[in-house]
Amino acid sequence: MPNSSSPPSPESSEQSAELAALRRQFDGTPYPWVSIEENIKESPAIFHQHSLATAFYRRDFRQVDTTGMTILDVGCGSGYKALALAHVNPGTTVVGIDISPKSIELAKQRAEFWELSDRLQFHVLDVDNLEQLGQIFDYINCDETLYLLPQPLASLKVLNRVLAADGILRTNLHNYNQRLRFLNAQKAFSLLDPISSSNSQDAIDNVSELLENLSPKTFVKSVWTKADAKLNPEKKVELIQANFLLHGDRAFTLAETFTLLEQSNLEWCGLVAPQRWDWKQVFTSEKSLPDRLKTTILSFNERQRLELVNGLLPDNRLIDFWCSHTPPTERSPLEDWSPEQWETATVAWHPILQTDDFHRDLITAARSLRSFNLQQYFNTPQRSTEVNAALLPALLPLQEGAQPFAALVDRLEQVYPLNPIEQTPVQREHLAQTLITLLQNLEDSGHIFIEE
Ligand SMILES: C[S@@+](CC[C@H](N)C(=O)[O-])C[C@H]1O[C@@H](n2cnc3c(N)ncnc32)[C@H](O)[C@@H]1O
Repeated sequence: MPNSSSPPSPESSEQSAELAALRRQFDGTPYPWVSIEENIKESPAIFHQHSLATAFYRRDFRQVDTTGMTILDVGCGSGYKALALAHVNPGTTVVGIDISPKSIELAKQRAEFWELSDRLQFHVLDVDNLEQLGQIFDYINCDETLYLLPQPLASLKVLNRVLAADGILRTNLHNYNQRLRFLNAQKAFSLLDPISSSNSQDAIDNVSELLENLSPKTFVKSVWTKADAKLNPEKKVELIQANFLLHGDRAFTLAETFTLLEQSNLEWCGLVAPQRWDWKQVFTSEKSLPDRLKTTILSFNERQRLELVNGLLPDNRLIDFWCSHTPPTERSPLEDWSPEQWETATVAWHPILQTDDFHRDLITAARSLRSFNLQQYFNTPQRSTEVNAALLPALLPLQEGAQPFAALVDRLEQVYPLNPIEQTPVQREHLAQTLITLLQNLEDSGHIFIEE
């Protein structure tokens, strides 16, 4: 422990200056700027990624009972995502920490407003002092924070130490390939206007004025114009601060990200939004891709595929991932499963779909022979989530909980005993294959879990 009476080392005084600047920034404008009354239920997009079930299934390919688990939200800001964590993970306790007292004050008020104070605790605390809490966490969420910290490796090592042996950490870094143009713009802005690094109201006004005057040919103007049309005034200010006035903003290459993980003894468990990094989107059509290229890509490991996408389509702002003390369980891809493997598999809805509203909607669609789109319950971009009306009966038994795959095929056999054209008994293998295609899609979009 440093002696409080000794003069601070140059490194630590630099760090405390960084910390003070970050605290000032987020005390000035707690993030996210979402009113306390805003209902988390109106943001289904964040349900899926904040559900512990999603993370544990991605790593272990099994559904875990998250009741009684303790969650840590590092850099919790104004507490919107801490509230989401408590909301989508019933039976858990959430501890939020942040260096900004103003943010913590808002987070506490939010928890009180939503009557969740008994499950949410907040502390003004620097991530590097987390061990002072004397607690170990089953899940850590460190969202939009690691890339701001002056010593990300040292902080990641602290997170490693407070993560339970079987726990999972979700964190993210700004992606260098995408962020570089913003970092360059930040430098150019500060050349034109030294106060633009100060985050005061004057700085916000100056950046707005600068953006107004930029040519549409510039990158920042083109992204700003797109956002500008959609945003209300508060969100515009938030966007200016998050992109042009963000103190401590740094970006990382994929190689740097993997090195950070190695050095902090954490294992990569996968991306939070893998669809955004799908290599197929880089090409006009997978079907017309020459075999030679396709074979090469299919021989790539995950890291090589990420490099391919990031090199050709550097659109992802974040490298957003889960990691843990143990590597993910190996499981062969569903498309390689034998009929025997499917026969013994079990299928379940993602637990966040086990609600009365979802059950009612599903039954209404099945009764009226309408197709059913799962998109509205949570949204995973670029994935097909439409269930054809003819296949809905197979999914109804899932309302009762996890079911053997074979039971779902049995249900389809009862509904379609005869082939509609020849009027001969329908082939079970044919029904099973149709169902497998649907289940693969729904597993890919995160709506169902399939356990071997
Ligand atoms: C961009 S905000 C993210 C807020 C929240 N995680 C979210 O995604 O909505 C970053 C937060 O990290 C906090 N922060 C920065 N440095 C920190 C540190 N050393 N320890 C704890 N919190 C810190 C800031 O005060 C701020 O609230």
